[in-house]
Amino acid sequence: MPENQKQAQLIFRPMTTSDLDQVAAVDRAAFPTPWPKDAFLYEIKRGRNSVCWVAEQAESGGEIQVVASIVIWLVLDEAHIGTLAVKPGYRGQKIGQKLLALTLIECQRRGARQALLEVRQSNHAAQALYRKLGFETVGLRKDYYKDTHEDAILMTLERLNLENLAQLAQGG
Ligand SMILES: CC(C)(COP(=O)(O)OP(=O)(O)OC[C@H]1O[C@@H](n2cnc3c(N)ncnc32)[C@H](O)[C@@H]1OP(=O)(O)O)[C@@H](O)C(=O)NCCC(=O)NCCS
Repeated sequence: MPENQKQAQLIFRPMTTSDLDQVAAVDRAAFPTPWPKDAFLYEIKRGRNSVCWVAEQAESGGEIQVVASIVIWLVLDEAHIGTLAVKPGYRGQKIGQKLLALTLIECQRRGARQALLEVRQSNHAAQALYRKLGFETVGLRKDYYKDTHEDAILMTLERLNLENLAQLAQGG
């Protein structure tokens, strides 16, 4: 089948224990100090206090693979983004944007009203994504990343806006 006729289907859904090998592989490909598999397992088991989702791509050939993952911690009315990664080769297709928007909608459904995150100062791609979602820089955390001694930029989204998030979840 010609490349442009391949029917790739993207599904966004909660992470399960059977995703863990693939989720850990996506994380390893994204970060100098990736989360171990057990850290994701712990987050899934915390259930009420975290939102753990994946994006799964079903290719026309039948192969299904995890291409992105996210973990968000819920603390009172705050959604704290713990980790977000898209598999290399699948970036630049709005997968990160859709996954983040959909999970923030889920966080809002579960009581969150605002969101925050830390991001490496050198990570311009992620910062651009967060700005597109409406996050603003509010501070700096010195020497936050112990592996590279890099500073973290602290970004917040003051009010989760369902209408805006729904549009972003559609790829807008
Ligand atoms: C950051 C990351 C999650 C983005 O995911 P992605 O699926 O490639 O991003 P999207 O295609 O959804 O991009 C959405 C928006 O983000 C911004 N963006 C994403 N990648 C960008 C890049 N390389 N340069 C500039 N802007 C970028 C753009 O505003 C883009 O909107 P546009 O396509 O309308 O211009 C991905 O690059 C990644 O996994 N990086 C490694 C792990 C990481 O840094 N995680 C975040 C830790 S805080």
